[in-house]
Amino acid sequence: MTDTRHPLRLAVLGSGNGSNFQSILDAIDRGTLHAQVACVISDNADAYILERARRRGIPAHHVSGAPFKTKLEGEAEAAYLRTLQAHGADVVALAGFMRILKPGLLDAFAGRILNIHPALLPAFPGAESWKQALDHGAKITGCTVHLVDAGTDTGPIIVQRAVPVLEDDTPATLHARIQEQEHVALPEALQLFAEGRIEVIGRRVRIRKAS
Ligand code: GAR
Repeated sequence: MTDTRHPLRLAVLGSGNGSNFQSILDAIDRGTLHAQVACVISDNADAYILERARRRGIPAHHVSGAPFKTKLEGEAEAAYLRTLQAHGADVVALAGFMRILKPGLLDAFAGRILNIHPALLPAFPGAESWKQALDHGAKITGCTVHLVDAGTDTGPIIVQRAVPVLEDDTPATLHARIQEQEHVALPEALQLFAEGRIEVIGRRVRIRKAS
């Protein structure tokens, strides 16, 4: 059945390569994600995610997170908010955005910010989770798409995909296989959001049946 809802107006925030952003574009092109990318914002002027956006004619902004290194607060947070609002974003996808969000942005987009994380949360929150999994000796890891709350990688889980850890894995090979699954999980979770199928009950996300 054709989806007659407006496409989701998506803002994508990222700090690096932007392969997850690319997976969003690819899903839109395939018709499996009913969304349009309103803008891309990066805290890193040289991030390739900005170049990917420019090549598609999508508004691409470098907005500094200074003076903070790992969080988005104060003037920088206000600048992000202004940019998101100027582009009429409905939903924010964190696609490799390496800063913790604070209440200014969380409240303005309550329940409308999704993050992709490279582990099966609640295991291995924080940075370089694939390396954490390897160092810990986990046999299975994966990726998680979750709604963002005030904690670090703690919000309600929407989609998870598992990835086995192989005997000869290095951090790079494991991360590459996790990323393959991220590129499926993030567009899938965004499409569930676009279809209005996500219902949050306490910590649990119930996926409503497709209508
Ligand atoms: C992804 O693996 C994503 O899960 C991770 O950064 C990478 C970004 O890759 N995010 C985090 O670690 C957030 N805590 P990309 O720039 O190619 O999409």
